[in-house]
Amino acid sequence: MGAEAVESPLWAEPHIRQGVEPVSIVIFGATGDLTARKLVPALFSLAQEDMLPPGFGIVGFARRPWSHEDFRQKMRDGVEAFSRHPPDEQSVWEGFAANLFYVRGGFTEGERYAVLDRFLREQAEAEGRPDNRLYYLAAPPQFYAEIIAHLGRARMARDSEAGWRRIVIEKPFGYDLKTATELNEIVHLVFGEEQIYRIDHYLGKETVQNILVLRFANAIFEPIWNRRYVDHVQISVAESVGIGGRAGYYDQAGVIRDIFQNHILQLLTLVAMEPPVAFEADAVRDEKVKVLRAMRPMSHHEIETHTVRAQYAAGVVNGEHVPGYCEEPNVAPDSQTATYAALKWYVDNWRWHGVPFYLRSGKRMATRATEVSIHFKRPPHLLFDAMDDEELRANVLALRIQPDEGIALRFEAKLPGQGMARRSVTMDFSYRESFGATSSPDAYERLLLDAMRGDPTLFARSDEIEWAWRLIDPIFEGWQSEYAPPLETYEAGTWGPRGADELLERDGRRWRRLLDG
Ligand code: BG6
Repeated sequence: MGAEAVESPLWAEPHIRQGVEPVSIVIFGATGDLTARKLVPALFSLAQEDMLPPGFGIVGFARRPWSHEDFRQKMRDGVEAFSRHPPDEQSVWEGFAANLFYVRGGFTEGERYAVLDRFLREQAEAEGRPDNRLYYLAAPPQFYAEIIAHLGRARMARDSEAGWRRIVIEKPFGYDLKTATELNEIVHLVFGEEQIYRIDHYLGKETVQNILVLRFANAIFEPIWNRRYVDHVQISVAESVGIGGRAGYYDQAGVIRDIFQNHILQLLTLVAMEPPVAFEADAVRDEKVKVLRAMRPMSHHEIETHTVRAQYAAGVVNGEHVPGYCEEPNVAPDSQTATYAALKWYVDNWRWHGVPFYLRSGKRMATRATEVSIHFKRPPHLLFDAMDDEELRANVLALRIQPDEGIALRFEAKLPGQGMARRSVTMDFSYRESFGATSSPDAYERLLLDAMRGDPTLFARSDEIEWAWRLIDPIFEGWQSEYAPPLETYEAGTWGPRGADELLERDGRRWRRLLDG
């Protein structure tokens, strides 16, 4: 594929490309949505950018009786719809598709793992390459333990002279602290921690990684990144989509498990962590874990006063009428699942003592926007009269994670004229303008490549997952107790419930408008 290759931003770091050894990527749950929407399109983009090694295979494993050809056809549909580089010529697709294979097998059918094992071994032998394997669990989570146990029993998990073995585990990793700990124990019986890659696709987003670059590759931010200068921090993950066809999963998970346990806590740890000693897996993850440990699980009183939960009612999103959550297919009409939450939380350490972190996320909101904003304290003394009605606005550093990726700094400037009237202005860095529209790989591209290269820095470690659940469990339990705040409703296509505004108003603050800053 080299001759046709599209230029990749990852080429800027040639060692990344060189670090990828020949490998078979084995996808458990290959007939599911994730494989066609995310995994194979990401691998196709990597192939187009010449980032995959000459010897690579993608082997789908699932129950449906598909042939290699069926699998290739379905994947082609997915690649055409979702890849950054949809194939423009038949030959380009065929070059890639020749590496796609399918092995039929139920996750509980032990003998099919032996078939898979043989297939992978023979494939590697035929191509004269090492039998390196990256197993990817894209199956329903209730099968994770069983798949892992079968891989162990079939002796498919240990690194050997034939090649290395790694496993990528999709979220959700457990359902609460107990199940996550059990799952960690089960995986550790079969795989060493260094072989395990627990994925959170937020960590694969360019702008999420850029939080680290902004903080630790610049000298001007770190000195003010603390309680002396920061008034509060806001993290918003707003989605305009609903739950799609995922009622079965979502009604059990709700927004707290779906977004807070993983994506929001990941963002928070990157914003709040101390500088790691190196950009290396354990150094980074140690610092992230320290942040989680510094956050206190919420007390009953805090559940009552620092959390807001809500569910969307019918409304209009992007000009389209959409049903309320309880009218979605397969959701019980009296479901109490929260599709929106807002929380106020503290990180109890020297850097952040007393600085509230306001976190919010919801489905079916006015727009899709993820943003972290650092709100600085106001100047201690105002030289200039309040010449207009507007209060003196505080400086805000906004990290726009998506969709309009960039960073904006708001500050006060003098209005041209004789007096000293001021207005807030914004200094804006846009990824698209600075680096060009094609420069951002999809999160899965980066993470798949890192797993192939054996770099777990952007994956969650076992203790990190468990600390996150330790924080999330009390919220869930609290919401089922007498301390639960009322389940509010918000109209689809709006910015969430009244209670979320009140959460900040009580502290004399307000949510940042995400639409236009
Ligand atoms: C997933 C959640 O982890 O993240 C989904 O399960 C959510 O419910 C998605 O829609 C959001 O990801 P992104 O990349 O679109 O922000």
